[in-house]
Amino acid sequence: MKILGIETSCDETAAAVVVDGARILSNRIASQVEIHARYGGIVPEVASRQHILAIIPILKQAMAEAKATWGDLDGIAVTAGPGLAGSLLVGVNTAKAIALAQGLPITGVNHLEGHIYANWLDAGTLRAVPIFPVVCLIVSGGHSDLVLMRGHGDYVILGRTRDDAAGEAFDKAARILGLGYPGGPAIEQAARNGKANSIQLPRAWLKGTSDFSFSGVKTALLRLVEKGMVSNIVDAAAGFQEAVVDVLVTKAIAVAKEHRVKQILLVGGVASNKVLRQQLAQNSSIPVLVPEPVLCTDNAAMIAACGYYRFRAGKVDGLDLDVIPSLKLS
Ligand code: KG4
Ligand code: ZN
Repeated sequence: MKILGIETSCDETAAAVVVDGARILSNRIASQVEIHARYGGIVPEVASRQHILAIIPILKQAMAEAKATWGDLDGIAVTAGPGLAGSLLVGVNTAKAIALAQGLPITGVNHLEGHIYANWLDAGTLRAVPIFPVVCLIVSGGHSDLVLMRGHGDYVILGRTRDDAAGEAFDKAARILGLGYPGGPAIEQAARNGKANSIQLPRAWLKGTSDFSFSGVKTALLRLVEKGMVSNIVDAAAGFQEAVVDVLVTKAIAVAKEHRVKQILLVGGVASNKVLRQQLAQNSSIPVLVPEPVLCTDNAAMIAACGYYRFRAGKVDGLDLDVIPSLKLS
């Protein structure tokens, strides 16, 4: 089954063609990072206009690279939410136009579910196949969730952030330290030359729950900077990264053990962080699966992979498919 995936929920315009939810024929991404960098964050109106400019060229590239014609496709999977309304609309309307013109079925994908399904890409060939039940640690710009997945499309939310998401915390900390945007890669890069233990930052354990909180560590960093107590930026970046990773790793392992799962799936943009990947793999006795870094950040291959399993389960949408900016995983 050959699925075209389309993703425009935030600031990446992406299209991909994937066979049977696993084999990537093409995976094209047009990033708007440089455009938003000058504002220090994503400007929603600018993002949607950029998507309009980029979507057709990206689609053409993805189809050409896959050597696919419209007639070769079996369906279209498109991110319907969560995300920025104006950005999501570009992808959803483009997908509906192709579906109508080519008589193809369409399925609306939850972006977070898409991140999870990045773990099925190349599974069985280049990497291990996920085995249920699994615990997913979803860490992105908008989410930090711990989710029990008992089968395809079967989710139980065990914990979530009560304030900032992990990626959001990285972005804010980078701004505080003057490291620019996007913050996650900037902090990781700076931290490589820093000593994490030269700065004391708090960890919010929220004992007795599987929830997270990252606003405290961010505020603590801000106070230290304001008081002139941060003399070395790279040490501060390393200390901040360690504080966030420490909590994510400890809580994910605890939840995975409690629910006796077979594997932990680490997903979302923050999952491209090397220290997080290493710490989780080293400290967990339960096997950890994590996609290649380029498949952790926003892409359309993961949406196509998720779409394949949705089609298999008969989850086909009509041409009345609409965007849901605050769509929840359920
Ligand atoms: O999943 P994603 O690409 O977009 C959303 O769905 O939000 O995640 C983007 C987030 C941003 O906050 C970015 O700073 C963070 O992921 N991120 C990282 C790294 N690469 C991206 N955070 C930490 N370390 C990284 N290497
Ligand atoms: Zn994402």
